[in-house]
Amino acid sequence: MANAEVGDDHAGEDPTVNELERRGAQLLGQEAALFLPSATLANQLAFRVLSRPGEELIGEESAHVFISEQGGPAVHSGLVCRGLAGRLGRFTGEQLRAAVRPDRPNYYPRSRIVTLENTHNSAGGTVWRLDELADVTATARELGLALHLDGSRVLNAAIALGVPAAQLCAPFDLVTLCLTKGLGCPMGAVLAGSAPLIAEARRLKHLFGGATRQAGIVAAAGIYAFDHNIDRLADDHRRARRLAEALVAAGVPVDLERVETNFVQIDMAAFGLTGAEGTQRLAAAGVGVTGTIHPTVVRALTHLDVSDEDIEQAARLIPQALGAAAGATTGAARG
Ligand SMILES: Cc1ncc(COP(=O)(O)O)c(C=O)c1O
Repeated sequence: MANAEVGDDHAGEDPTVNELERRGAQLLGQEAALFLPSATLANQLAFRVLSRPGEELIGEESAHVFISEQGGPAVHSGLVCRGLAGRLGRFTGEQLRAAVRPDRPNYYPRSRIVTLENTHNSAGGTVWRLDELADVTATARELGLALHLDGSRVLNAAIALGVPAAQLCAPFDLVTLCLTKGLGCPMGAVLAGSAPLIAEARRLKHLFGGATRQAGIVAAAGIYAFDHNIDRLADDHRRARRLAEALVAAGVPVDLERVETNFVQIDMAAFGLTGAEGTQRLAAAGVGVTGTIHPTVVRALTHLDVSDEDIEQAARLIPQALGAAAGATTGAARG
């Protein structure tokens, strides 16, 4: 990062940003890409590019774009948000078809964009199955809808399925990839799509106040991450699985069906605790977890700073701090 060659990114003159955008487009199998400060901005620009005010954005009801972006689709693009009930963060083509109202076009808001999240954050880092992805995206096309992927963690999905990320991104008009999550960068995201759509997103990046100057300093971290931090996501997944299985064996409720990537969700209800109380209790024991949208569920994450030894330590400390009794439950299904 310190040695990055830089220029004025806003004028298209930062060679490191340009290289990151070239690599990002290639990785995601899209024609072009745009470097941005955050995945939230990438999502919001995508919606603005693909829609007009008063149109409808359809997605899974607990998607990050609906619950964790301050109502951005309504604020920035005037969109009506339509959440579909999901299972493990996924929904079906049939649900999508039922949600779209082709009759009375002068009356109902026009359905315009379908957004998918892969992996799905609040469902626990869950992965869209290839057949389910094909079903929903084909149905969206048949219904004349635009497709956005919040692929902030799409590289985790690709590693979990053993397929190229480009394959998971192929059906979409625009794809968000976050550089700060499993990839470990201090900041940044990439929005990828066709050259005309990305040209429009580049114009809107300035409108939204997100245009940058010598951003090559941070883009350099993204290029490093593409070279060094993708294949190793498999280690994060293996460690999350190890932690989840050790916790279940020690009587801590974890829904193992959800542990597909680098998240382990723990339900504190079994210990009479809220998520916030559980987080505090575990912090006092030296284990950092975060809350989720589920009031009693907390989330442990594996990432490039968490080692095998850390996992073994967490697997000892968590049951101890919670007073778990071995052989208890495996946790209830959510969302
Ligand atoms: C699925 C998903 N999309 C988007 C974001 C937003 O990322 P950022 O913090 O870079 O804006 C997050 C952050 O947690 C996320 O989990």
